[in-house]
Amino acid sequence: MTSQPQHPHLPLPDYFSKFASIYARQTGHSTLNILAEVISQNVQTSAHPIGPDSVVHDTAAGPGIGAAALVAKLPKEQLPKEVLVSDNVPMMVSGARDSLVASPLPHVECKELDSQDLSSVPDNYFTHSIDNFSIFTFVRPADAVRETYRTLRPGGLAIVTCWRRFAPMFIVHAAQKKIRPDLPLMPTPSPEFYEEGVLERVVEENGFTKDNVTLVERELVVSDDENIGGLTTLMSGPMMAKAREGYTEEEESRWVDSVKQSVKEEVEQNGGIKFQAYILLATK
Ligand SMILES: C[S@@+](CC[C@H](N)C(=O)[O-])C[C@H]1O[C@@H](n2cnc3c(N)ncnc32)[C@H](O)[C@@H]1O
Repeated sequence: MTSQPQHPHLPLPDYFSKFASIYARQTGHSTLNILAEVISQNVQTSAHPIGPDSVVHDTAAGPGIGAAALVAKLPKEQLPKEVLVSDNVPMMVSGARDSLVASPLPHVECKELDSQDLSSVPDNYFTHSIDNFSIFTFVRPADAVRETYRTLRPGGLAIVTCWRRFAPMFIVHAAQKKIRPDLPLMPTPSPEFYEEGVLERVVEENGFTKDNVTLVERELVVSDDENIGGLTTLMSGPMMAKAREGYTEEEESRWVDSVKQSVKEEVEQNGGIKFQAYILLATK
């Protein structure tokens, strides 16, 4: 496992719209940087590298994080001939569109689509499907895997990632305990996906064969001030409002300092904000 600061070759801020750059900053570029390393170290070294004949789906893409990672990591002549970037949230799709309009990708389309129902996409269409840190946000993750499988060509490669340790949740819980230890901790979506074996099981039960599935783990320690600042903004703001449910005004006013203190403790303990991820590669 390696600890990696933000990659210097990422196309920021040129390929990011304002919205997309806020998203990337507030995730500490964690989803982008982990995927960028996966592309260069796991996908391009596999039997199914991405190249100029590839047709790639970046599903539940947020503001086009998968496409941005491709641009960051692949030389221009290796970029896929076609990329579909999709998400079911219109603002994510428009953020992706604004970001990628100036990218060197030969052909990129950004569309509002439900990853769990890709009926407008034919069978056996993509050579690669990227599902980056989204599976735990799906209401029906099994359907999303089935759709990934159906839309992949035989021999095509799916890249499905999910968190093993989503650091902001640990930090938010620590901040909650400092103010109102008596209240319930903020819930995390689909926590079963943090457990070992669950991602493989869901993938293997919904189309992919066990022998064609590989799992690796990756660690990212975010230690630079800019990305720590972005993550601190995320944890201090409305995305974590649930953590402050039942707070008085006075308790609310202590939240930002409590988050900052909890970030400091995380950094002291781990040398930065420590993310761990499961990376699953599955061939159809
Ligand atoms: C944690 S974000 C990950 C985004 C991006 N893939 C990344 O690497 O940062 C989860 C994304 O999944 C999207 N999403 C959730 N459910 C979805 C669904 N059923 N269909 C398509 N997108 C969905 C959300 O809108 C959000 O953009």
